[in-house]
Amino acid sequence: MNCRKTVSILLCSLMVFLLCTGCSPRRSGVIDRSCSTCHDASVVYEKKRTQGEWERIMFAMKARGLKIAPEQERQVMEFLSRSYTRERS
Ligand code: HEC
Repeated sequence: MNCRKTVSILLCSLMVFLLCTGCSPRRSGVIDRSCSTCHDASVVYEKKRTQGEWERIMFAMKARGLKIAPEQERQVMEFLSRSYTRERS
């Protein structure tokens, strides 16, 4: 009885998880927090760029004074490559 309930809760969370990872979200909390101090975060969402362009931009932002923890930088790059990256220039 109790066990069945647990199993269905687990199945439901799995489905929600799959639904969420299947689509590509348009915004990211990390970007909204870390990238909106000098300019609006919308600058980031303006257009798709190549992987190389994003790497250059992250480098340039750090040179301008962006402070970001490696774990958050990883999340930013992961989000950008999922939702804001095009194949080539
Ligand atoms: C310390 C200040 C600062 C922070 C923090 C910052 N930026 Fe910027 N960013 C700038 C400045 C200044 C410019 C505009 C001029 C330029 O490109 O030199 C800019 C411009 C940009 C542009 C437009 C560049 C172009 O060539 O079109 C993008 C994209 C961008 N930032 C992304 C980010 C992302 C992603 C983050 C967070 C990870 C971030 N920025 C955080 C200072 C910052």
